Amino acid sequence: MSNNSEEQITKNVLDSMAQTPNPRLKQVMTSLITHLHAFIREVELTEDEWASGIQFLTSTGHMCNDKRQEFILLSDINGVTMLVDAINHRSADGATESTIFGPFYRSGAQELPMGATISKDGRGEPVVVTGCVLSTDETPIPNALLDVWETAENGLYEQQDPEQPDMNLRGKFRTDREGRYCFVGIKPVSYAIPEDGPVGQLLQALGRHPFRPAHIHLLISADGFASVTTHLFVKGDPYLDSDAVFGTKDSLIVDFIKHHSEEEAARYHVATPFYMVEYDFVLKRLGER
Ligand code: BEZ
Ligand code: FE
Repeated sequence: MSNNSEEQITKNVLDSMAQTPNPRLKQVMTSLITHLHAFIREVELTEDEWASGIQFLTSTGHMCNDKRQEFILLSDINGVTMLVDAINHRSADGATESTIFGPFYRSGAQELPMGATISKDGRGEPVVVTGCVLSTDETPIPNALLDVWETAENGLYEQQDPEQPDMNLRGKFRTDREGRYCFVGIKPVSYAIPEDGPVGQLLQALGRHPFRPAHIHLLISADGFASVTTHLFVKGDPYLDSDAVFGTKDSLIVDFIKHHSEEEAARYHVATPFYMVEYDFVLKRLGER
């Protein structure tokens, strides 16, 4: 190991891992070191740049606590989260596509009856979201669970905003015997991801904006089926083509249709005007590829 030429350094590190007992760890670390060293060689990293990188990662760590995960945000804005998602969820034809989970999910939302609203403060423009949960052969799935969450009209999730009631704009819904679901939310708005930390500074340094296109989050599960973590995006949103975390998928962009009919509004127990979205979710059976 005495010859520390540039190429020899890489070889020495790879050789040092030769006895790694876990074959997957060996494969991942061998590839990681090979690519990392190749990157450093390619850009001819300076010592100052190396120190800035270390400082950046240190600040990223310091920004993390039990409510804030700056490393996941870093993964998100670099497309790593969506690439891992794409590799791990190669959808069966017709199955609902997955997208980024994000850091704002909270477990323990209340299960609500069909058609109930997730708004606890009555603010925002109501949207009725309805459709079916189906298998890939179009069989309705009864008793599927939809766990939904979204920001308030100010673009903040309830845990970011002391003005909002606890668990505002979160709820769980079950499909009926025909696989139908219905819930009332609010028309989502585009919003900025947290930009007060190192990730925000990096976005700024790269000349990038921090916005996500308006969306409602859904986590859909049913016995015997693979769960899907997904969104419904609002057609026409200005950030659909430049989502700060690269989560947009064409199949998840839907029309939010505005309605003014008092009669229709009364049917859904909402005020006018309101929006309607109709969307069927399709789940893969466990083991289906
Ligand atoms: C979200 O959609 O909630 C989200 C996703 C990634 C980073 C920040 C927020
Ligand atoms: Fe979100």
